[in-house]
Amino acid sequence: MKTFDSISGISRFLHPAKKQGKTIGFVATMGALHRGHLTLMQKAKNENDILVVSVFVNPLQFNNPEDLEKYPRNIEHDRMLLEEVGCDVLFNPGVKEMYPEPGSTQYDFGLLEKVMEGPSRPGHFNGVAVVVKKLFDIIRPDKAYFGEKDFQQLAIIQKLVKMENLPVQIVPCPIVRENDGLAMSSRNERLTAGKRQIAPFVYQTLKEAAKKSSTMTPDEVRLFVRNRFKDEPDFQLEYFEIADDRELQPVSNWNEAGGILGFVAASLENVRLIDNMRII
Ligand code: PAF
Repeated sequence: MKTFDSISGISRFLHPAKKQGKTIGFVATMGALHRGHLTLMQKAKNENDILVVSVFVNPLQFNNPEDLEKYPRNIEHDRMLLEEVGCDVLFNPGVKEMYPEPGSTQYDFGLLEKVMEGPSRPGHFNGVAVVVKKLFDIIRPDKAYFGEKDFQQLAIIQKLVKMENLPVQIVPCPIVRENDGLAMSSRNERLTAGKRQIAPFVYQTLKEAAKKSSTMTPDEVRLFVRNRFKDEPDFQLEYFEIADDRELQPVSNWNEAGGILGFVAASLENVRLIDNMRII
């Protein structure tokens, strides 16, 4: 595996390969890699000539400095997993390399950023879009793979690609779960053993909500989920929403959109867990 920390270094390596007609599959990460990431990478590896992975904890997308500071980092462990999965190129730049000047780009994602993670984490999606656009410009991938756990982020990136006419195909990848249903996330590492045991409550509640959709209206399901969380004081529910799968706007009946999902964000001992599940 080749490793680069500079834009000029990775460009010198990748651009000739691209000129020779080699295809590039790209997985952007903030490190602390887990099986969810590796599934994306395996798919990218199978579908392309070269697998490029970036590991960069992007300060621009953290609205909470404590969250940035506590974000798990373990590049040596990440390197080991990347070697195992057969990653060809690791891009691991520092903050100065990515942001030599403070950025001023402001995207407008319209309704998509007005719901759920948008108001909960002001500036987050702009930070994601700025770094993803930079990474696409540097790496020039043919295909880029993103997990559906961050469903709203995926929708934002799909919109960014359209808005900026970026020559890359976005490949959505299903959520990867632990055996007990907990959606895999780098943040799970921060849960103590006791709280890790109860964390699958988020997934179980989403499953129950999806079932209730056969007998309840969306508003009734919203109330049902909020009450379930009230009974579990270890969890602080930030939002539960039922929304369409395109603009992610709340729905008031099940016929309102072709695709509908339930979305949840909740904190467990200050670790923020997000998850979602398709209902229709
Ligand atoms: O999903 C993530 O890990 C990050 O938001 C991403 C896409 C790597 C951008 O920093």
